[in-house]
Amino acid sequence: MSINKRKLDHINLALKKDVSFRSISAGFEDVFIFHNSLPELDFEEVDTSLVFLKKKLSAPILIDAITGGFFGAEKINKKLAHVAEKEEIAFAVGSQRAMIQNPSLAYTYKVRDVAPNVPIIGNIGIANLDRQTIDKLDSAVKEIDADALAVHLNPLQEAIQTEGDKNFSKKARMIDEVCDSVDVPVIIKEVGHGISPDALKEINKTKAKIINVAGAGGTSWTKIESLRNGSSSSFNEDGIPTVVSLINARKLTRKELIVSGGLRSGIDVAKGVVLGAEIGAAAAPFLHAYKSNKAVQLVQNWKKDLKVFMFSRGVKDLRSLRNLKPIITGKTMELIR
Ligand SMILES: Cc1cc2nc3c(=O)[nH]c(=O)nc-3n(C[C@H](O)[C@H](O)[C@H](O)COP(=O)(O)O)c2cc1C
Repeated sequence: MSINKRKLDHINLALKKDVSFRSISAGFEDVFIFHNSLPELDFEEVDTSLVFLKKKLSAPILIDAITGGFFGAEKINKKLAHVAEKEEIAFAVGSQRAMIQNPSLAYTYKVRDVAPNVPIIGNIGIANLDRQTIDKLDSAVKEIDADALAVHLNPLQEAIQTEGDKNFSKKARMIDEVCDSVDVPVIIKEVGHGISPDALKEINKTKAKIINVAGAGGTSWTKIESLRNGSSSSFNEDGIPTVVSLINARKLTRKELIVSGGLRSGIDVAKGVVLGAEIGAAAAPFLHAYKSNKAVQLVQNWKKDLKVFMFSRGVKDLRSLRNLKPIITGKTMELIR
């Protein structure tokens, strides 16, 4: 099956079927940060802004990698990138493999014209990396004028995908080859099954600058791939919950972290920041909001949640938010390593 058809299948399944985890939650309900009944703060003083990838954002929110590479993908990317620009948040395109293989598809990823001021993140799968692809990454990044390149790790997805690239041997060493071949920072991300402690130790040895934990609790890629091949995978519910993945990552690495995988409100973003992430990201909620023409509203709701959370905890900026002490309970507490 062509990449274009597969990308379109992914969008359709994510929009039309229930592709989220059922038995695993991201774990934010296990994280308590008590409010302060006397915050000694004016709501209007609360400042959610930050600098990310050298650009100013109004809030620590990223519309994460969703698509590119088929006729119609440009509409989704342009619309969501335009929302990102309007709301001053970051935006990521989906895997650029299709445009690397077929340069005539580059237009489906190009959003700089509608998002001149916010960070744009490029994307490639580690499973797709070989010498030839690595040599083309720099121009793929430059062509879309990206501020960073995300390399996604997705062994579970590739294993279930009928036409998946299942050879992950000797891939870890390619991370530094990627870092050396592009002029922008490299982000290592999962796709919704969580970065594992073993992988973190390997990533620590590389020049990658940022890690996006993309944990379990939101979109399940084994579920999407098994729906595509008309079966049900025993791995639909396999993964490391997002909060567990984030807490483990914060202990194991000094690199900057992005929290994603099942974030469904600005409160989840706030909790992610308390737990050590620079910024919170999501994919499925923004895709659904694009479809119903409510993406601006969704971003504004998340920003409002974040601001109310900060006000009610008595913190006026993200630096102070990071200093709050969370209480971790339940299954999350049991799973932390
Ligand atoms: C339709 C769809 C397509 C995606 N395509 C990509 C991709 O090309 N590259 C990638 O790194 N992640 C991709 N992802 C994964 C997301 O970036 C994100 O890591 C994951 O969906 C978890 O976040 P969520 O629970 O908010 O959806 C995709 C997600 C969705 C829903």
